Amino acid sequence: MKHVISAKHFTNADILSLIETAIQMEQIKKQGHGLNLAGRIMGALFFEPSTRTRLSFESAMLRLGGQVISTENAREFSSAVKGETLEDTIRVVEGYVDVIVLRHHEIGAAARAANVSAVPVISAGDGAGEHPTQALLDTFTIARELSRLDDLTIALVGDLMYGRTVHSLVYMLSQFPKIHFLCVSPSTTPLPRDVVDFATTRGASVQIENDLGRAAEASDVIYQTRVQKERFHSMEDYEAVKGQYIIDEHILARMNEKAIIMHPLPRAGEIAPTVDADPRAAYFRQSHYGVPVRMALLARCLA
Ligand code: NCD
Repeated sequence: MKHVISAKHFTNADILSLIETAIQMEQIKKQGHGLNLAGRIMGALFFEPSTRTRLSFESAMLRLGGQVISTENAREFSSAVKGETLEDTIRVVEGYVDVIVLRHHEIGAAARAANVSAVPVISAGDGAGEHPTQALLDTFTIARELSRLDDLTIALVGDLMYGRTVHSLVYMLSQFPKIHFLCVSPSTTPLPRDVVDFATTRGASVQIENDLGRAAEASDVIYQTRVQKERFHSMEDYEAVKGQYIIDEHILARMNEKAIIMHPLPRAGEIAPTVDADPRAAYFRQSHYGVPVRMALLARCLA
């Protein structure tokens, strides 16, 4: 079964082969043919808001000649409102589609869904847990923009505790040689201990750096993230940490010429719009890479 639940499950070889396929998919996307998923249906079940992830998955499936059925606000507009369990919903939907893309607000939801599903389940984010397909497109972005996946210093900036894209990215990249993470986060939202331990066990180094300017000078990639407002227990706690680390022209001035700024988006003030015109601002290009990468994933899951 080709479920996609955690970035931990991707081997080095998996990642490189998916990157290669995604490069071919970029061509297919440009040329508009090479369709091989005709007659297959992807079901997108989204219990949390999404723009990029849902639309790029739908675009990927359509570009491969497949079809899509989708519920974008499953928390309110599915039978979850009537008290249906996630497991029951999956048992029903698996009969309608060939692959399920699931975003859910609870950690572990994708694994629970995979346990009962006869068709592949692809996690599109499970609460503050993981976001493995984002990690894959982030890895693809680094490979595309910097032409390598080793010997990298990556500053992880912002809400490293609740930011699921960060967790998956650390899991995925830490298996490549000479990976150094610099954690730039408010003291109340550090990278979780188990994520740090996983990375160091795989040979990556993880260091705390409270000064964003210093991190900018040392890094090949600045991975900025949004403070995950919806995961905070109180608005005061959120207000206390938001806006602490902002990328603006002062930070840009301290970055290496060849370094890039990434962000899974959406941003909520943590990158000044004045940064967008700089060629090192890679975040919109990064969002576009989501389509070929998800095409490659769907092709693999439905092969
Ligand atoms: C992220 C997510 O949903 O975790 N967005 C995305 O999928 N590109 C990041 C975020 O919401 O901050």
